[in-house]
Amino acid sequence: MASSLWNYCFALSAVFFLSSTVGTVRCQAVQAENVTVLEGGTAQISCRLQNYDGSIVVIQNPRRQTLFFNGTRALKDERFQMLSFNSRVVHITLRNVSVADEGGYFCQLYTDDTHHQVATLTVIVPPELPTVEVKTQAVEGGEVELTCLSPRSKPAATLRWIRDRREIPGVVSQQEANKVITVSNTIRIPVERRDNGAAISCEVSHPALNNQRKVRHYRLDVHFAPTVRIVPPPGILREGDSLTLTCSVSGNPLPRSVLWSRVNDTLPERAEISDSTLTISRLSQSHNGTYFCQAHNNYGRAADHYSLLVYENVSVVESVKNVSVPHMVSPISRPATSNPTSLNLSRIFPDPKDPGAVVETQSAVPYAVIGGILALLVFAVICVLIVTIWCSVRQKGSYLTHEASGLDEHGEVQEAFLNGSDSREGKKEYLL
Ligand SMILES: *[C@@H]1O[C@H](CO)[C@@H](O)[C@H](O)[C@H]1NC(C)=O
Ligand SMILES: *[C@@H]1O[C@H](CO)[C@@H](O)[C@H](O)[C@H]1NC(C)=O
Ligand SMILES: *[C@@H]1O[C@H](CO)[C@@H](O)[C@H](O)[C@H]1NC(C)=O
Ligand SMILES: *[C@@H]1O[C@H](CO)[C@@H](O)[C@H](O)[C@H]1NC(C)=O
Ligand SMILES: *[C@@H]1O[C@H](CO)[C@@H](O)[C@H](O)[C@H]1NC(C)=O
Ligand SMILES: *[C@@H]1O[C@H](CO)[C@@H](O)[C@H](O)[C@H]1NC(C)=O
Ligand SMILES: *[C@@H]1O[C@H](CO)[C@@H](O)[C@H](O)[C@H]1NC(C)=O
Ligand SMILES: *[C@@H]1O[C@H](CO)[C@@H](O)[C@H](O)[C@H]1NC(C)=O
Repeated sequence: MASSLWNYCFALSAVFFLSSTVGTVRCQAVQAENVTVLEGGTAQISCRLQNYDGSIVVIQNPRRQTLFFNGTRALKDERFQMLSFNSRVVHITLRNVSVADEGGYFCQLYTDDTHHQVATLTVIVPPELPTVEVKTQAVEGGEVELTCLSPRSKPAATLRWIRDRREIPGVVSQQEANKVITVSNTIRIPVERRDNGAAISCEVSHPALNNQRKVRHYRLDVHFAPTVRIVPPPGILREGDSLTLTCSVSGNPLPRSVLWSRVNDTLPERAEISDSTLTISRLSQSHNGTYFCQAHNNYGRAADHYSLLVYENVSVVESVKNVSVPHMVSPISRPATSNPTSLNLSRIFPDPKDPGAVVETQSAVPYAVIGGILALLVFAVICVLIVTIWCSVRQKGSYLTHEASGLDEHGEVQEAFLNGSDSREGKKEYLL
């Protein structure tokens, strides 16, 4: 356009040249330059002057409102500033450019032949980081619809969905309003439980981003019914042990709580529930039973069970020591192993079929054995006494009573001395 204007000028001077005898025509002209600026930036609009002779220069906006009349501000818009005005050039700036400022700015020179040139201002709107909208909640076995949205760009931004470095083709739509374009890209993908948390991203590219991409990362949120698993402690549980069962729950959304119960019974009094654990301190056989852990969310429910069998405390054998005849019991209570809780009971009381029954009989038998041993001891002591007394009858009664006096009260001893031969009767009573 600029060149055409110069041509016009030359043509004009040619006409002047032909019409007048002397070729002294001074040709004034103006030349405008197109401007491209980012939204919010500052645009510099320049009108170059040729052979300026002091004519009035008028600059108008796209609506043909006069911004500057020969250097004087006409329109009240503080964003416009006259930067310079000399015989070569008129520079004006426009701050905080918006898309509404777009269009042709007129550089007009009032001479005999009023002519003008237009500087086209182009505003570019780079896209923001796109957003992801979930149209339908992802449920396992279903499909998820995701929309990547870039609400403002100019020219239109390009949106791509990427998963595992591969593009997922989607449906792209563009809507223009007030010169800016809203771009969206919608995909529908089938989802399974394992897709929960999977990374997917939406990339936006645009001329104003200089080959850089803005990437919105998104993690798939796939809802699924819970799964429940009771994690029991290892090993055999015995009376007095404490038991902690952990209910391991998955599910999306994660069930807010778990429900502990016991089949056909109430939970034991000593059971403590904290979050997903059930703790029973000091187990007893009354805690035998089937324990259930249940959980649910909007997509279903799940449960797991654990059968608790409490075995009798082996340390019952240990407590036998309290009876003051340890040397008699130790061969039984201490077989090869030294740890009382890991006694191989079937070795002592073999009954391989039912370990519970084994433990039960085991508790009765040691007491019977100990009782028998005690009875034998007492019997032996009595026998020894009888023999001793019988022997002493044959000797002097006074000698016997002297020996007994070390053990008995003084009064009795005195009596024994006085009573003489009668004393053996009294002595016998004491010993028994
Ligand atoms: C300025 O922009 C207008 C409109 O886009 C175009 O017609 C014209 O050729 C451009 N002028 C120059 C010098 O690039
Ligand atoms: C227009 O402004 C220029 C620069 O300030 C000045 O030289 C010129 O005389 C002015 N023209 C008129 C007609 O006022
Ligand atoms: C720029 O213009 C917009 C409206 O187009 C306005 O909301 C914003 O406050 C302006 N910014 C400045 C720094 O003037
Ligand atoms: C069971 O044995 C443990 C030690 O092994 C002991 O601490 C606990 O008191 C015993 N419980 C009963 C009921 O005997
Ligand atoms: C619970 O009770 C029902 C009927 O009373 C019975 O059929 C079922 O076997 C019991 N379950 C357990 C684990 O004891
Ligand atoms: C058994 O012996 C322990 C110490 O070895 C003692 O603390 C406990 O009171 C005794 N129990 C009985 C019933 O005598
Ligand atoms: C316990 O003893 C029985 C019989 O001697 C044997 O068969 C079994 O393997 C033993 N168990 C352990 C855990 O030592
Ligand atoms: C608990 O279970 C154990 C192991 O099976 C068994 O020996 C015991 O008799 C049971 N106790 C009760 C009260 O059911």
